[in-house]
Amino acid sequence: MLERNLDGEELLTARLSLRRPVPDDIDAIFAVHSDPATCLHNPSDALAGRAEAVALFQRWDDHWRRFGHGYWVVRRRGSDRTLGFCGTKVMDLGGTSVLNLFYRFAAFSWGQGVAGEAATAVVEWMTGRVPDLPVIARVRPANIASQRVAVRAGLVRADHLDTDGEDGLDWIFARNLPG
Ligand SMILES: CC(C)(COP(=O)(O)OP(=O)(O)OC[C@H]1O[C@@H](n2cnc3c(N)ncnc32)[C@H](O)[C@@H]1OP(=O)(O)O)[C@@H](O)C(=O)NCCC(=O)NCCS
Repeated sequence: MLERNLDGEELLTARLSLRRPVPDDIDAIFAVHSDPATCLHNPSDALAGRAEAVALFQRWDDHWRRFGHGYWVVRRRGSDRTLGFCGTKVMDLGGTSVLNLFYRFAAFSWGQGVAGEAATAVVEWMTGRVPDLPVIARVRPANIASQRVAVRAGLVRADHLDTDGEDGLDWIFARNLPG
């Protein structure tokens, strides 16, 4: 079940709460992105120092200010321990504006269905909010868990869109492609 509060900046699922990041989340952003395990398939996303986490938070916040949506902080409902981050970013893919689905969770939370539940909520919310834009996920071929999360969120493999990313070939999964 998906609920939305009045300002649209908190999503509630059966187990999870998703809300817009605030500056107090910078330490958690750094913790999740400085663990080599969480960036194994996407080393270009790894953060080397807290200043990089500050800059990353600012880019996330700028996106929220500009578009009214973006990446979310994911916690269990009623808990103040951050599990990770999930959301979408407006980007260009081959000349088309798309919503790029992102998820990265602390290793202690893996294997409990958290990413699938969060990504499903985000895609459902975004489909209602921005129905005209396709949602895509760019996933490294060896990142099986991430591919499963994309599929769980309703995306399907779109191999004609595969593209070179910062860390090598990205397989594309998509939903709501035009035509
Ligand atoms: C990818 C990631 C988000 C998955 O998080 P998670 O909470 O463990 O995922 P879930 O428990 O919701 O599992 C989702 C699906 O993946 C499968 N899965 C989870 N871990 C897996 C693994 N190591 N190998 C194969 N499948 C796996 C689950 O069985 C489930 O499959 P189902 O939908 O068919 O039931 C997490 O491992 C992560 O943060 N990794 C680092 C960041 C990253 O790679 N992000 C994606 C970049 S494209």
